[in-house]
Amino acid sequence: MKAAYITHYGQKQLTLGQLPKPSITQPKQVLVRVLKASVNPVDLKIQAGNLRPLLKLPMPLVLGNDYVGIVEAIGTAVTNFKVGQKVLGRISKQSIGTFCDYLVDREANLALLPPNLDLKQAAALPLVGLTAYQALFDKMQAKRGQSILIHAGAGAVGSILVQLAKMQGLTVITTASQRNHAWLTTLGADQVIDYRHSDFTKVCPPVDYVFDTIGKETLLQSFEVVKPGGKVVSVAGLPDAKFAKAYGLNLIWQGLFKLASHKITRASHKAHAEYEFLFMRPDGLQLQRLAELVVTGRLQIRVAKEYPFEEIQAACDYVATGHADGKVIIKLTD
Ligand SMILES: NC(=O)c1ccc[n+]([C@@H]2O[C@H](COP(=O)([O-])OP(=O)(O)OC[C@H]3O[C@@H](n4cnc5c(N)ncnc54)[C@H](OP(=O)(O)O)[C@@H]3O)[C@@H](O)[C@H]2O)c1
Repeated sequence: MKAAYITHYGQKQLTLGQLPKPSITQPKQVLVRVLKASVNPVDLKIQAGNLRPLLKLPMPLVLGNDYVGIVEAIGTAVTNFKVGQKVLGRISKQSIGTFCDYLVDREANLALLPPNLDLKQAAALPLVGLTAYQALFDKMQAKRGQSILIHAGAGAVGSILVQLAKMQGLTVITTASQRNHAWLTTLGADQVIDYRHSDFTKVCPPVDYVFDTIGKETLLQSFEVVKPGGKVVSVAGLPDAKFAKAYGLNLIWQGLFKLASHKITRASHKAHAEYEFLFMRPDGLQLQRLAELVVTGRLQIRVAKEYPFEEIQAACDYVATGHADGKVIIKLTD
């Protein structure tokens, strides 16, 4: 099958070539023929080797986390999917690879493609939709009447969170460059801060939650606007010792993460607020809910551009700019 892969971490350009077609080895697995995939910034981080402490991945490594495709075969214990059905998913983190013709995934990661859901939107949704969903409902457990600051509201994760937070009845403040302000207002943002020209700590009122997609100084400054008792959830900052323990990392890694995140811990103590690092996970049931919201028009997902498989490097380079205007789709099959 055709695949886009790397043979070592730090490889600058993806290799496009042929790899063996995978096959089902466990009863609860599904073989999917991939129609479309989407690119996420995490693909580039994995390529660079930045996630090595968290993910043990074999080489050659096919990149890609999101897919929409057709079920080609099912394991003996699969009950929810049939051969020939269209599905979408965020593949298991420890066995990634969606920039290819075929993949094997766990049944629990899949959602059925709702009729009339556009394939590009379906390929765009899984990783970013689940990240926003898990931040709001699993980590924050946010309630009507509360408030949230969302960094990078125009990003793929941020724009979904803006809409989910609004549906949940929160006051939503977000940061974006000027060209995206009108769009974010139509999505429901109550206040949009131009991060290029103003300091958010000076114009953002105290909030119950901050969702951080930027990390570093932006994450540290977020504790200046969170209320005492509030919470900062980051998907781009450093994991702390609490995360490392819950993730099952050994004591050495727990100690290293504790050391590396000490400034964040200090800022959170000073603000009397909690810090949590989110490493999203696949979840077919949550994804099914999100897909229903998209197909019924309650959730918008912006697609920037679709690239043919042969131009996948250009697609990744565009995402690497950090300023893509929506999700970037890869077409595997017609
Ligand atoms: N830990 C996890 O499980 C997890 C899961 C998902 C994503 N992430 C991470 O979250 C980050 C965002 O992902 P994404 O898919 O949403 O990325 P994305 O769609 O590529 O984000 C691009 C957007 O970010 C905006 N942006 C860039 N710098 C900004 C800044 N300083 N302040 C405000 N907005 C800024 C850009 O808007 P302008 O062009 O208008 O500036 C652009 O619209 C990535 O680092 C990704 O790896 C982590």
